[in-house]
Amino acid sequence: MIQEKDGVFYLQTAHTSYWFCKTKFGHLEHLYYGPFLSIQPVDGVRYKRTAAVGSSVNYSAEDDLYCMDNLPLEYSTIGRGDYRFMPLEAVMPDGSFTADFVFESFTVTKGTVPMETLPTAWEGKREGAESKRAHKENGDAQKEPGREIETLCITMKDTAFAVYLKLYYTVFPDMDVITRRAVLVNEEEGSVQLRRFLSMMVDLPNRNYTMLTLNGGWSKEAHVSVRKLNENLVLNTSTTGSSSNRHNPGIMLGEEGANEDKGLVYGFNLIYSGNHMSASQVSAFGLARVAMGIGDYCFHWTLEKGRTFETPEAVMTCSSHGYNGASHAFHGFVNRHIVRGDWQGKERPILLNNWEATFFDFKESRLLRMAVEAKKLGIELFVLDDGWFGERNSDKAGLGDYDVNPKKLPHGIKGLAERIHKMGLKFGLWFEPEMVNEDSKLYRAHPDWAIKNPNRPAVLGRNQLVLDLCRKEVQDYIVKHVSHVLDEANVDYVKWDMNRHIAEGWSETLRGRGQGEFYHRYMLGLYRVLARIFRPRPHILLESCSSGGNRFDLGMLCYSPQIWASDDTDPVERLKIQTGLSYFYPPSTMGAHVSESPHQQTLRKTSISTRFAVAAFGCFGYEMDFKYLTAAQKKEVKEQIAFYKKYRRIFQFGEFSRVECPKENKVIWQAVERDQQHPKEAVAFRAGSQA
Ligand code: DGJ
Repeated sequence: MIQEKDGVFYLQTAHTSYWFCKTKFGHLEHLYYGPFLSIQPVDGVRYKRTAAVGSSVNYSAEDDLYCMDNLPLEYSTIGRGDYRFMPLEAVMPDGSFTADFVFESFTVTKGTVPMETLPTAWEGKREGAESKRAHKENGDAQKEPGREIETLCITMKDTAFAVYLKLYYTVFPDMDVITRRAVLVNEEEGSVQLRRFLSMMVDLPNRNYTMLTLNGGWSKEAHVSVRKLNENLVLNTSTTGSSSNRHNPGIMLGEEGANEDKGLVYGFNLIYSGNHMSASQVSAFGLARVAMGIGDYCFHWTLEKGRTFETPEAVMTCSSHGYNGASHAFHGFVNRHIVRGDWQGKERPILLNNWEATFFDFKESRLLRMAVEAKKLGIELFVLDDGWFGERNSDKAGLGDYDVNPKKLPHGIKGLAERIHKMGLKFGLWFEPEMVNEDSKLYRAHPDWAIKNPNRPAVLGRNQLVLDLCRKEVQDYIVKHVSHVLDEANVDYVKWDMNRHIAEGWSETLRGRGQGEFYHRYMLGLYRVLARIFRPRPHILLESCSSGGNRFDLGMLCYSPQIWASDDTDPVERLKIQTGLSYFYPPSTMGAHVSESPHQQTLRKTSISTRFAVAAFGCFGYEMDFKYLTAAQKKEVKEQIAFYKKYRRIFQFGEFSRVECPKENKVIWQAVERDQQHPKEAVAFRAGSQA
């Protein structure tokens, strides 16, 4: 619920309250974010300023206590006496960095307000049986008065120029989530040059927070890292052109003493898949500032008169039930308001992917044999991975081409899909559409479509270049070819891969305009391509992947209901990866497979039951040729699959928790059924043993 009274904005969810007010000079003062408070006068929660502070700059001679540096704010700008980290760094029409936005008006609208350029959280309405189930699980409270989704938009105007800052707050009462984003509109003659423009900022009272982030790299994604927040600025940011396996966009702040189940914890995440940043810092006056949005790495955006810039939506939650409390809110929100289309709330099929069994070395006959065996064990979906097109016999050639390799697949993708479908299995296919090899027909025809700086030799990653998705003709090429394959072969599932970082942000379309717009425009191009291919085909289950979990974020989840968590399928390594991801993302979004032992990368030997127990807490599948299993192992696999099918709803959509574990290096996960109408069932796992 959103209510305004005497200049105070009260944003209420089922268990949290978020309040701020207009100050006498028109700035927005943050008042409170925490456990639910009924609406009341705000003096009790207001940050007290009783004395002027030495060596500070006052906003106005009228009031020596009004110092921007010592005010908890909703958004701040340079040049008016606030010296903390700034969410906006813009060259204004007079060439200065000074901006000062003050309140002009506000509106409250029902529902969410979609953006023109970027994916946003949606209202989560669904049709049919799955919708009934989702409603039962989440309750129908969303329709009750005071518990509907609403959006507050506050328009602020710069005191010197016709430049407007719009702050959007969408309240999802049932989810205990509030989203925030900012929009800048330039109505002034001169341009505004954006060097940093973040989606949200908030100043919270300092409670000696511990900051939790997910860091890593290829095959060791999303490892939890914690540190004390202090006066030094901490940036959690990516520079690879994607949300990255190095630093996931999600962050949490836990008050001193908070653990998995108790204490106040704030969570923040971003609906964006490109370079991101969040900044956190404690001020000298006991306020912890958090800001989040598009990363400022190589960012420079020119906003001419009449133009608007939309920032991605940031997602906030707060719980007094520790880190699990914040995770539960995020999990519910992702399942209901991020994932969309036919697969929202729908149980994901158990798949067999041929990659780790065959790599590039396969023929139709072998694939069909693998599929027959898989069907016998209970598998529901067969996925053909990399290597089916062009001269793709290694990672050195073929990316960019879509003509099938007839030596491997004499009946084409269509023929293979028909044969798989006839067995009663669904058929899935791998693509890497954002990439091109120099050794490909596409590159020979259009070398200029690849991203490379025209004044320097190109740098390669996995022998490939990235296609310039800022270009309309490149977007059209991908949409046309991928759509054709999907429709011709009646494909049920797509794995959309992206196997290198972007290194040099360069697009011919931006020549003369400045390349500071490149990274964001690439992302806008990608979202357009994904929308054009998959929105008209909502029956296709899309699993996004980027060398494993290099792009595990809420932006991709708006298109792909699940993401391949890591190329590392060793269950012991996966404990860290899946635990890390679980802070922000539900198991229904995590691709997790059983592969061979000893593991191909780590050489670690593990039992097939341990491999199953870890992979079961995700979108479950296998990456192996079952023919190499013993009869006893096959029997076990068959039982695993039957067990998973029985409890799939709980594994994928149950309430997932990390059990506080006093012994180091032990992991306990549990998932509890959500349907309140039946006695609750639960599944649990302790590292090394199956429950
Ligand atoms: C990287 C992915 O993460 C793997 O699962 C596999 O699809 C390969 N790419 C194929 O090249």
